[in-house]
Amino acid sequence: MISEQTRARFDREVAKYPADQKQSAVMACLTILQEEHGYVSAESEKVVAEYLGMPPIAVHEVTTFYNMYNQRPVGKYKLNVCTNLPCQLRDGAKALKHLEHKLGIAMGETSADGLFTLQQSECLGACADSPVMLVNDLTMCSFMSNEKLDQLIEGLKSAEAKQP
Ligand code: FES
Repeated sequence: MISEQTRARFDREVAKYPADQKQSAVMACLTILQEEHGYVSAESEKVVAEYLGMPPIAVHEVTTFYNMYNQRPVGKYKLNVCTNLPCQLRDGAKALKHLEHKLGIAMGETSADGLFTLQQSECLGACADSPVMLVNDLTMCSFMSNEKLDQLIEGLKSAEAKQP
């Protein structure tokens, strides 16, 4: 079940496309549910499939193809480190290892305090800036040496500690 407000948001997205191509709004609808729930559950995929008249597996394929969709709850800060080949050649994997060590979690896990989720990602389109990472799907961080990674984590932790 979706709220009337969510349905209205879906309707607005669908209206952007010809009536016989409403499945074109699949990414927008998934994004809306992720904004509301923090991740895209199997139930959310089902809701979108029903709403758009798509097979549930087709919606699942979209969710699993793009790693900006969270398939499970994530921490407040989602750190996606690029480990694709060009970045591998320029310390991408080392950056991921450094973060695993610093945060005490393995790739794919969330820290016990719920602050950080660490993931690897495919090419972020900034290979020349490697090591690169994306924070919360929006903020691109380039040339992430171990020192800069430490600064980032410490900065986020200290900002959290100052929250009322
Ligand atoms: S391979 Fe990492 S940004 Fe392109």
